Amino acid sequence: MTIRYNVQLQPYNSFRTRASARIFCEPQTVEELSETIRTFSEEKKLVLGAGFNLFFTRDFDGVVIKPGMRGITTLAENDEYIDIEAGAAEEWDQFVGFSVSHGYSGLENLSLIPSSVGASPIQNIGAYGTEVKDTIIRVKAVNICSGEYHEFTNEECAFGYRDSIFKRTGRYVITSVVYRLSKTFAYKEKYVDLSRELEGIDVPTLSQVRDAIIRIRTRKLPDFNLLPNAGSFFKNPVLTMDEKEALRKILPDAPFYNAGDNGFKTSAAFLIEKAGYKGRRKGMVGTYERHALIIVNYGTENGQEIADFMEEIQQEVKRQFGILLEPEVWIF
Ligand code: EPU
Repeated sequence: MTIRYNVQLQPYNSFRTRASARIFCEPQTVEELSETIRTFSEEKKLVLGAGFNLFFTRDFDGVVIKPGMRGITTLAENDEYIDIEAGAAEEWDQFVGFSVSHGYSGLENLSLIPSSVGASPIQNIGAYGTEVKDTIIRVKAVNICSGEYHEFTNEECAFGYRDSIFKRTGRYVITSVVYRLSKTFAYKEKYVDLSRELEGIDVPTLSQVRDAIIRIRTRKLPDFNLLPNAGSFFKNPVLTMDEKEALRKILPDAPFYNAGDNGFKTSAAFLIEKAGYKGRRKGMVGTYERHALIIVNYGTENGQEIADFMEEIQQEVKRQFGILLEPEVWIF
């Protein structure tokens, strides 16, 4: 494995901010990863996936580890389902495309999410009424302090909305994920936008659902190559009954979705828009004109500018509606 020094991280984060890593390596196997962790036991560590959900505000004085495990393998199957293991470095949408083209269902609603397989459990990626936790049966990982290998069952991952044990502890490097996908498919209505896109089709097929999602996302979300961004910047806030009623008094048309026992989810994009920040630009940073939840980079290389703009939005939403938006994106 090659170890590189003073590596520019701009190509490795989708916001394209500049920062350098003192040490950088891409282990290709679990053994190489464990060895790297043990060799650099005294150094600070940062794990990089596809870099779609983070940006840098300063140089990193430690080791950046970018897991390079690849491969898609069938572990078990019967008439109903198939268990597939995918390496952490596999590109997410290619993996979804692969599963849909084989007629395996479960991941289709997560089409075109910018991610890698290894990053998918960390924040339990989700879209159109589906979360990846519903398909994960095992996560294989290495402890970032000891270099020891560990396997997690679905329960042990302690998944939540954009949350997991991996996100909460920051203690594991994911090397591969095992998904259980179904060999049958029956479209279930879960999300208005998607149902609207599928209007006119009596019984949507698996690939029609994937294609519909790709169309919606392409229309709504900015292209990373043209306008660097990190997808949804904030999580949708989950409110208690009292908070919900308080917000309804200020914003009678605020949307609410049932978030189970946890309360009521409202739309961060809606709050940002009502605060006057949809399509607003400040210097080289702004929110996307077609979706208030996406912060886009118009040309800065300095991550601090993005972080400052984020804080401005947080303060304004808090001042007007009493709600603190939590970033979904990681800032280093
Ligand atoms: N809305 C506005 N203004 C806007 C955009 C949206 O008011 O500029 C309101 C509308 O009421 C709309 C509602 O927000 O109906 C929801 O919008 P959307 O369907 O785009 O969903 P979202 O809550 O903004 C979440 C996920 C996305 C995921 C979509 C689709 C989070 C933080 N984001 O966005 O995930 O693709 O649902 O299911 O949960 C990501 O995490 O990076 C991501 C893109």
